[in-house]
Amino acid sequence: MNDFHDWLFQKQAFVEFVLEKNLPKASDETHLNEAIKYSVLNGGKRMRSLLVLAVAEIVEAPPIAIENIICAVEFIHAYSLVHDDMPCMDNDDLRRGKLSCHKKFSESTALLVGDSLQSIAFSLLSSPSLQINPKNQLQIIHILANAIGIEGMAKGQALDIENTNKKISLDKLMVMHRFKTGALINSACLMAVLASNNYDKKTLDIIDTYSKSIGLMFQIKDDILDKEASQEVLGKTPGKDEKYNKATFLSLLGITKSKELAAKYYEEALTVIKPFGDKAYYLASMAELIMTRSH
Ligand code: IPE
Ligand code: IPE
Ligand code: MG
Ligand code: MG
Ligand code: MG
Repeated sequence: MNDFHDWLFQKQAFVEFVLEKNLPKASDETHLNEAIKYSVLNGGKRMRSLLVLAVAEIVEAPPIAIENIICAVEFIHAYSLVHDDMPCMDNDDLRRGKLSCHKKFSESTALLVGDSLQSIAFSLLSSPSLQINPKNQLQIIHILANAIGIEGMAKGQALDIENTNKKISLDKLMVMHRFKTGALINSACLMAVLASNNYDKKTLDIIDTYSKSIGLMFQIKDDILDKEASQEVLGKTPGKDEKYNKATFLSLLGITKSKELAAKYYEEALTVIKPFGDKAYYLASMAELIMTRSH
């Protein structure tokens, strides 16, 4: 086992621990808390959290700030998946190898799980105990709010629905993916830099470019896996993009060109972090993991 695998093993366990710690306790009054737990603690790869932790290897940030950023990002991500699977969106019964939230509970519960997770995320980021200077903390909240709204993830999801059954240009596809998947990944990495009370602008710019390349690579890979991976490995229903005539990198470019494009963004991500020298090791290893992942 090399050093990155040790790091990964240790950080994945850490992420599971902090997610569980920051989730609401079970309640006898409604199914909501149970459904929230079900939707978060269900075997996600935690790639966004691992990226946050890889950035935290470059900057010095208070551990409590990193912990809350990780939870905020994973909670928003889990909310986006719960809503993405609903019948009015992608209508998927399977998520992370289990019944999707609306199937296990109900559509109304799934809707409220998303609402609640979004609110918990911002509650954590606005906590007075974060040990970040107030200006940076406000910027962190602002970045995440923008990344998931009408100029971010929600816009990307709206474009995804509107572009279904349409042949769109590559430019439009890139725009859609930048919003749909890229914005949250980008904001996760930027928040980790801003959690440091003495980061420099050059570091922020490098992480900005790195995470934008990673975001695009991530979604190209997701589109490829939808075609190539089996249900057992993927933990979600494969072949759905083609079945529903979704606008994807595959439908537009085919498999070979899509792989080439993913490789191009991978190289870009590696190139931009070179000024970090040896400290870029975890960021580079994360890029490789996202590029070579099988699910
Ligand atoms: C899937 O994200 C949805 C996209 C934004 C492409 P992940 O592949 O990170 O899903 P989990 O968290 O590991 O289940
Ligand atoms: C989901 O994209 C993006 C968000 C949830 C914001 P997909 O619809 O491609 O994700 P999967 O393939 O269902 O995980
Ligand atoms: Mg979708
Ligand atoms: Mg989907
Ligand atoms: Mg997909």
